[in-house]
Amino acid sequence: VAAAPVVVASNRGPVSYRRREDGSLVAGRGGGGLVSGLSSIRREGDGGSEGEGGAAVWVCAALGEGDREAARAAGRRLSTDDTGGHHVRMLDIPPDTFAAAYNGIANSVLWFVHHMLYQTPLEPVFDQHFRAQWAAYEEYDTAFADAIAEEAAQGAAVLVQDYHLALVPGLLRARRPDLRIGHFSHTPWAPPDYFRMLPDDVAGQLLRGVLGGDRAGFLTLRWAEAFAACCADVLGAEVVRDGEGRAAEVRFEGRTTRLGVHGLGADADFLRERAHRADVEERMAALRAQIGGPDRKTIVRVDRTELSKNIVRGLYAYRRLLEEHPQWRGRVVHVAFAYPSRQDLAVYRDYTAEVERVAREINAEFGTEGWEPVALHVKDDFARSLAAYRLADVALVNPIRDGMNLVAKEVPVVSDHGCVLVLSREAGAAAELGDEAITVNPYDVEATARALHLALLMDPGERAERTKRLAAAATALPPARWFTDQLRAL
Ligand code: G6P
Repeated sequence: VAAAPVVVASNRGPVSYRRREDGSLVAGRGGGGLVSGLSSIRREGDGGSEGEGGAAVWVCAALGEGDREAARAAGRRLSTDDTGGHHVRMLDIPPDTFAAAYNGIANSVLWFVHHMLYQTPLEPVFDQHFRAQWAAYEEYDTAFADAIAEEAAQGAAVLVQDYHLALVPGLLRARRPDLRIGHFSHTPWAPPDYFRMLPDDVAGQLLRGVLGGDRAGFLTLRWAEAFAACCADVLGAEVVRDGEGRAAEVRFEGRTTRLGVHGLGADADFLRERAHRADVEERMAALRAQIGGPDRKTIVRVDRTELSKNIVRGLYAYRRLLEEHPQWRGRVVHVAFAYPSRQDLAVYRDYTAEVERVAREINAEFGTEGWEPVALHVKDDFARSLAAYRLADVALVNPIRDGMNLVAKEVPVVSDHGCVLVLSREAGAAAELGDEAITVNPYDVEATARALHLALLMDPGERAERTKRLAAAATALPPARWFTDQLRAL
């Protein structure tokens, strides 16, 4: 097996396996913004001679039983037939260790810290259970560091992704000082006052972990600044600023880590082609039939059913719209796709149930014969999402906090007749799209309802103009460039 000149590491990989009825394993594509950003890495057969270095290797974790079986059957690398040509090493980390690291630490602690999701009078509680999970997280990051150390060629570039793997740059530096190591955060970074809720040693370990790399990348300047502030506050590290006063590097214990801001954009070519295939057209027809009435407007939202996405307040805002502006009753439908996510966690299951409950309540209160005010779908369907993007008059993207949010960038790219974007100012995307969107404070339901009303009233000319400018801003950094920029910088 050839050592790789480029190694990418992420918890979720480009492929996932499930077992069919007949017992055989079937490979499917992994989902999420991270996977679409990374899928432009060099694959087998992508031009270039051996001298320029072979294909990249992607190290990821087995997430479920199907993955584990496939990983065990494959040996060191999965078959490239399953992975869309990527060389993938899938780590079969013991299930209990994986669950404690992924559900316990990554998704219940680190995700909550960076998105500021705790109900602080009662949470978080850092007790002995937390300590056991933290030990599992260290083990899981160590498994990644060991695998990367084995895969990487001398002097290779390693791009480590996200909060699951915050310790990996430091662990890898200790094993392989020859490597060039970058870490990229696809989430926000918490401000110091919030980050300091973590036990001091854990906070320090996380920051030292990322600072083990040569570069630390973020989706917007805001998150990079928060990271730098945490380094200064918790570790007493020195933050060096550039000519414009922006945090540019962190110096700590004789090493320098450069900060980079890389705002992942939408993949225009892929989306435009994909959005015009027959399966999307079919779903458009079905959605049109469900919406009913050719003059009805459509407010669309598409999210994972994720606590940070603020779906419930979005529904409250829609209800306020119908209460305050009765002229919209019967004339608008809220199409909400809330795809299942992290259902091993009780809070996510409860949140999904709450979304369903509020949607039902609105339909019961306002619905009439021939008009269902909310069309909620909870089953994942990418083609149907694209169909909704094309039809939407208004897109509601109102997260309470979000690293970037790709939906805000995808909608204007595929919109058929222009779509007004109502966008939370707490989404990273607001830094790039804020001028052309109607921005809202995501906690302010009244203001969100007002924004929806204004969005529905916007005249078609202005709407089309804004959509054009949104699409241009949204595609400024396509995934392939997002990736190569980081590689070059490294
Ligand atoms: C966010 C994270 C990704 C993650 C994705 C889906 O975008 O930044 O790292 O893959 O959510 O979450 P999941 O837990 O299903 O991988």
